[in-house]
Amino acid sequence: MNITIRRATEDDAAAIRAILGVIAAERIYSAIDQPFSLEQQREYMRSLSTREAFFIAEDEAGRVLGYQSLDRWSALFGSMSHVAQLGTFLLPEARGSGVGHALAERSLVFAREAGYEKIVIQVRGSNGRAQSFYRALGFSECGRLSRQVRIGGVVDDEVLMEYFVT
Ligand SMILES: CC(C)(COP(=O)(O)OP(=O)(O)OC[C@H]1O[C@@H](n2cnc3c(N)ncnc32)[C@H](O)[C@@H]1OP(=O)(O)O)[C@@H](O)C(=O)NCCC(=O)NCCS
Repeated sequence: MNITIRRATEDDAAAIRAILGVIAAERIYSAIDQPFSLEQQREYMRSLSTREAFFIAEDEAGRVLGYQSLDRWSALFGSMSHVAQLGTFLLPEARGSGVGHALAERSLVFAREAGYEKIVIQVRGSNGRAQSFYRALGFSECGRLSRQVRIGGVVDDEVLMEYFVT
């Protein structure tokens, strides 16, 4: 698949929201059970600091296939300013063809340049694919929040994974 990775702007809020809507509707991959409103998504994009970024993957026709978000783990504590969090969201038709890895390549370079020393993610316990994906990038499991997610009567754990930026 011929894809382009670029940094998102607030004008990508609708595309990002649409992708999150698809994944939330699938109900099995993420703890996010509904997308933000368009205005909330736009406002969030506007609020990102210079050390935070969304990267989007587009096909040749300019269609957004997925995105990765990298933001501060905590906006409150200076003591954790070296820690980022990551999220990856691809449309079903874009999975399994290297789009996730292409996004991660870009996000990890950005994380290093932005001075992060560590990246943390939370992945649903049942989401083996995402855990394999992050393990292949160098993340390792460092904890588990049991029965942390309940969506439509289905209860799931959240697995914590961490990656030390080298
Ligand atoms: C998880 C996701 C980001 C991975 O991106 P991707 O480009 O599809 O990743 P890949 O196809 O390279 O798959 C990653 C690994 O999972 C493996 N895999 C594929 N399907 C799998 C499955 N059903 N169960 C377990 N592992 C699976 C692949 O073999 C690959 O392993 P490898 O790198 O050792 O070969 C993407 O599939 C996605 O957006 N899924 C829906 C949303 C989601 O789960 N987001 C993560 C929220 S934290």
